[in-house]
Amino acid sequence: MKSIKVGLLGIGTVGAGTFNVLKRNQEEISRRAGHGIEIVMVADLNVERAKELVGSHCEVVSDGNLVVSNPDIDIVVELIGGYGIAKDLVLKAIANGKHVVTANKALLATHGDEIFKAAQDKGVMVAYEAAVAGGIPIIKALREGLTANRIEWIAGIINGTTNFILSEMRDKGLDFDTVLKEAQRLGYAEADPTFDIEGVDAAHKATLMSAIAFGIPVQFDKAHVEGITKLEAVDIRYAEQLGYRIKLLGIAKRTPQGIELRVHPTLIPAKRLIANVEGAMNAVLVQGDAVGATLYYGKGAGAEPTASAVIADLVDIARLADAEPAHRVPHLAFQPNAMADTPI
Ligand code: NDP
Ligand code: HSE
Repeated sequence: MKSIKVGLLGIGTVGAGTFNVLKRNQEEISRRAGHGIEIVMVADLNVERAKELVGSHCEVVSDGNLVVSNPDIDIVVELIGGYGIAKDLVLKAIANGKHVVTANKALLATHGDEIFKAAQDKGVMVAYEAAVAGGIPIIKALREGLTANRIEWIAGIINGTTNFILSEMRDKGLDFDTVLKEAQRLGYAEADPTFDIEGVDAAHKATLMSAIAFGIPVQFDKAHVEGITKLEAVDIRYAEQLGYRIKLLGIAKRTPQGIELRVHPTLIPAKRLIANVEGAMNAVLVQGDAVGATLYYGKGAGAEPTASAVIADLVDIARLADAEPAHRVPHLAFQPNAMADTPI
């Protein structure tokens, strides 16, 4: 069985989770992929910590350029985050003919069209299941499971940090800053947590889902973005007394005027399933014209739930690596559909 060689950029929360799950479940994963999948090189700023994590299993470097230019590497997994060095390394990996897996929704929601165009021109795949809703396979559901449908709307709790904050404030009466610190300690929050609490991260994810569901270009700049920083404990308490829960929802919806894209706190009747999604769990409701409403639920953040999605992408790419570019699915998702509604 030919082994697929992987280079890892960034071994923080998700990178370490990916390394550990891949090692623990190596046999099943390889059998399912039809190839061995082996991390052969890791780049991280903190070389000593990275070496402690990976032991003698692979080479550790501080410069990601050594990973993306390594001729032995088939797939580059980008888990650094942000739009700076991550974008540069992803584009270099693609230019060097490597497939890419990334969990970086910020990068794809702002530069996705450029990245997917580069991948298409080069005939390589870019997969990003982990970029939306952590361990929930929502990208696959939208792209494949629901492909027969005209999607009417998507609404979801797609940020674990803010859902954790709202749940802990309500259940334990804790204050915002204390819970945010705990979300950071647990590895849920972004490097810059204002992305979480101001709704930006959820808007990145809603942007990606809308691109797949509606065939529109990635247009994060068209999203209405409102986070939870203006909410106070008293708002949560009053909502509760009136029979509601406050949830930060990401919504993408067809309207006669075009696609509406918005993130904001929403009052949801307490008896609804989605109102009872607690902690760092995520849930995404998708309404299709044929299937009706479908609901996807699971851990939306954290090391191993996210690693589960990263590795699913690695397996997908390993299975398709020998296929003709036209038959490779993951990198086709963002191809704009000329018939699509325009975002408003
Ligand atoms: P972390 O900050 O935990 O990990 C990032 C790692 O990359 C750190 O070890 C960091 O080193 C390293 N790094 C930073 N700059 C460079 C560089 N120039 N070259 C090499 N390594 C570098 O982030 P996460 O693991 O939480 O997130 C990674 C990505 O996954 C992000 O895009 C995030 O949005 C996404 N994601 C995260 C989820 C989560 O639950 N945490 C869930 C879904 C997606 P150092 O620490 O020394 O700076
Ligand atoms: N910071 C993100 C969240 C990580 O809290 O949902 C998962 O994308």
